[in-house]
Amino acid sequence: MLISKKMNAAINEQIGHEFTASLQYIAISSFFTIESLPALAGRFAQQAREEHDHALRFVKFVLDAGGRVEIPALPAPKASFKNVEEAIQLSLNWENTVTRQINSLVALAIKESDYLTQNFLSWFTIEQLEEVSSMETLLKLVQRAGEGGLLYVENYLAGQLKQTEAEAASAGKA
Ligand SMILES: [Fe+2]
Ligand SMILES: [Fe+2]
Repeated sequence: MLISKKMNAAINEQIGHEFTASLQYIAISSFFTIESLPALAGRFAQQAREEHDHALRFVKFVLDAGGRVEIPALPAPKASFKNVEEAIQLSLNWENTVTRQINSLVALAIKESDYLTQNFLSWFTIEQLEEVSSMETLLKLVQRAGEGGLLYVENYLAGQLKQTEAEAASAGKA
């Protein structure tokens, strides 16, 4: 096995956190659908898929390293929210928590002189920078728009999605 038992156990915990995030974002996406906010719902459905992918990245790493995958029991996601801002604030808090969790894994890898895991985790540290910064932007947008201005946020997200799709299409042609 290329990683320690302790590292294996810590990564198994993280697999649980990533799946928990995925479920939480599905719950938030559902809340936005009920509130007739399709662009926000789409954004969080996409976010849920990304968290699912993060969990699977860790699973693959543990298996490649010859470890054992043991997924812990997951807490139920929060299902109801006072308003849009509360749901996005919860997501931002969550992303900050995950950033600390990834940093603890890096600290453990450094302590164990485990360069393989350190290297593997570097993708996640950069990913967290992106996730925290985009969630902060979204929270500020929602706060500025207020409950009455959520259509502005919807238009902004729909525009962003069109741009990403156009970029993906032109990258496909190149
Ligand atoms: Fe994640
Ligand atoms: Fe995330």
